Amino acid sequence: MSQSHTQNDKNLNTLDPNWRSDALDLGLDYGMQTIAVRAGHHRTDEGEHSEAIFTTSSYVYASAADAAAHFNGSKTGNVYSRHTNPSVRTFERRLAALENGERAVATASGMGAILTMCLAYLKAGDHLLAANQLFGSSIGLFNNYMTKFGVEVSYVDCFDNDAWAKAVQPNTKVIYCESPSNPLAQICDIGYLSELCKANGILLVVDNCFATPALQRPLDLGADVVIHSATKYLDGQGRVLGGALVGSDKLMQDAFTVVRSGGISMSPFNAWVFTKGLETLKLRMQAHCQNANQVAEFLAHHPNVSTVHFSGLSDHPAHALATQQHHMQGGYGAIMGFEVKPQALSDGGVRDAKAAAWHVIDATQMLSITNNLGDAKTTITHPATTTHFRLSAEARAEAGVKDSLIRLSVGLEDVADIIKDLARGLDSL
Ligand SMILES: Cc1ncc(COP(=O)(O)O)c(C=O)c1O
Repeated sequence: MSQSHTQNDKNLNTLDPNWRSDALDLGLDYGMQTIAVRAGHHRTDEGEHSEAIFTTSSYVYASAADAAAHFNGSKTGNVYSRHTNPSVRTFERRLAALENGERAVATASGMGAILTMCLAYLKAGDHLLAANQLFGSSIGLFNNYMTKFGVEVSYVDCFDNDAWAKAVQPNTKVIYCESPSNPLAQICDIGYLSELCKANGILLVVDNCFATPALQRPLDLGADVVIHSATKYLDGQGRVLGGALVGSDKLMQDAFTVVRSGGISMSPFNAWVFTKGLETLKLRMQAHCQNANQVAEFLAHHPNVSTVHFSGLSDHPAHALATQQHHMQGGYGAIMGFEVKPQALSDGGVRDAKAAAWHVIDATQMLSITNNLGDAKTTITHPATTTHFRLSAEARAEAGVKDSLIRLSVGLEDVADIIKDLARGLDSL
C-alpha cells in the first residue's frame, strides 16, 4: 500500500474542521435515550435542526492543490461517498455511541456487514467457528464463499459452552454468533465466549440484530465486534436495507478499508432513515418486548403448540442468562419460534408438521406473511421453506429449523389483535 493511501485511510473518518462541534458532547455522560436522539449530528452552517440528507456522490475542493491535499492525507475531509458521507457518518456515530463502541462502519446491508467482517478479519488457512443457530444467508456465506477462499468453517451448538471450548483450534481467528439467534431466539453466553476468545487470541463477533443496543450491548459483555442488520429494528418499519459493524477504532479501520475498497457502502438516504429510527429504538423495543411476552404466554398455553422458543418464558433453559445479559428489564426481544403439532384429520389422514404450520400461517388475516422481521407490523414466516430453505437438510436440522417451526416477529399492533389472529389458525387445526 502506498504512503498516500495509508494516510488517506487514516484521515477519512475525521471531521471537517469547518463543521460545528458535535451536538452532543459524549464526554458528559448522557443517558441512552438522549444519545439516541442527539448523538452524532453535526449541524451545517445552514442551521438545520433535523439531520440533513447529503445525497451527493462526490465533494468539491477549493483548488487543485486542495484536491491534492485531500488525497495525500495532509488535509482531512470527504472525497467520495463510497468512502465517507456526512449522513452515513451521523448514523455511524450515533450507533457507535449506543453500542458503547469507539467507532461504527455502515454497510449496504446486514450481509454486507458480515461479508466485511470476513474479509477484514479472516484469511486463507484461518478457522471461523460459528454457532449453528444462525440466519440462513450467514451460513450460506460462510459455507459457500469463505471456504472457497480457504477459510475453514465449523459450527457448534450456541448454548453449549463446552462444545465451544472443544471446537477451538490453533488457527481459530473468529468466533461468530447471534444472540438471540434467528429463528429460534437461542441465547449465547457472551461473557463466557469473551473469556474463551481472550484466552486464545480470537475475535468475538456478535450479531446483535435481534436484541439491539436497547436490550443488550455485546461490547460491554466482552465482544470485540458487533454486527447489525439495520434493516431490522434500527429502521423498525421495514423500509430500507443497511448494516453496520461496531468496535474499537483499530478493528473498525480494518472494516472501513474493506467497505471503501469493495464498495459495500450505505446509501445516504438509508443512513438518514436509520438515524431517525435510532431516535425511537428504545421506546419501540420496550413496546415490542411487552407485546412479545404476552404472545409467548398465549402460545405456551395453546394445546396445538408443542414448543415455544423464547427466552422470556420462565421455563426456557436460557431464561436466567438472557435476564442477566439484557439490560432492559423484562426485555427478551420480540422474535420467537413456535412449533405446531401435527394433526389427525377426521377422514383418518394426518396433517403433517409442515401442513399444520402452513395452515396456521394461512389462517391469519392481519399478520404479514413475509421473511423480514423487526418491523412495526407483526410478521409470520415458515423458516424451513423460506429463510433457511437453501440450507442442506442436515444444516437445517443442526440449526433446529423443523418443518413444524413458525417464526414470529411480534410488532406494535394491539397485542389482543395479534393473539386473536394467531388463534384463528391454531384453534382451527
Ligand atoms: C440475524 C440476522 N443477521 C443478518 C441478517 C442479514 O441482514 P440483511 O438482510 O440486512 O442483509 C439477517 C436478515 O434477516 C438476520 O436475521
